[in-house]
Amino acid sequence: MGLFRKFINQTRKPEGFLGKLMLNGMSLGHSKIADWAMSLLDIPAPLEIAELGCGNGRDAGELLKKYPEAKLTAVDYSPLSVEKTKKNNAAMIQSGRMTVIEGDVSDLKLEAGKFDLAAAFETIYFWPDLDKCFRNVAGILKNGGYFMIVCESDGEDKITQWFKQRIDGMNTYTPVELEKYLRHSGFSEVRASHHDLFAWTMVLARK
Ligand SMILES: C[S@@+](CC[C@H](N)C(=O)[O-])C[C@H]1O[C@@H](n2cnc3c(N)ncnc32)[C@H](O)[C@@H]1O
Repeated sequence: MGLFRKFINQTRKPEGFLGKLMLNGMSLGHSKIADWAMSLLDIPAPLEIAELGCGNGRDAGELLKKYPEAKLTAVDYSPLSVEKTKKNNAAMIQSGRMTVIEGDVSDLKLEAGKFDLAAAFETIYFWPDLDKCFRNVAGILKNGGYFMIVCESDGEDKITQWFKQRIDGMNTYTPVELEKYLRHSGFSEVRASHHDLFAWTMVLARK
């Protein structure tokens, strides 16, 4: 595998030197997408948030700024992402508002029925068995809790299809496909938003 391909494969589970580079650069590519999606998030202010696949932890910090009364648990299965999220959010962790744990969404060990909001920014591409992962997310939400999925892809755009062919285990989904998975997994009131210019997609589902 060539160096460029090794580098872009770090999006799936950042590790080692290339993983550090990827995590440092991630905000550059992702922050505008995350901010766009968070600007559309018009739900009652959550008190308990789970951020799944937190990467470098930038969005975890932004969610806590948007919801000043909330506490947040950030989860990632990459030890490097966990380390980076802790480093980037030291003050929030020290104040007791953020907890960061190593964990896999396909075997989620968070407390059942605890969360008002679960957020997944740019990560579901890599989740195996989406039905199972979405059921796990439903399991940690309160009844009436929300699940926000954010992707720079609408499942059909050419750029992400190009990456999909080069990143092992990557999948993309259209909003219609996501809605099917979500409804199978215990969600209702599924609403999808598409950016006017880009393929950015935000899907909000309610348990
Ligand atoms: C492309 S990065 C996105 C990171 C961050 N959310 C962002 O938008 O910049 C994907 C992240 O999801 C994590 N991830 C992928 N599959 C996961 C899984 N099954 N469980 C937990 N984390 C996962 C990866 O380790 C990586 O940190």
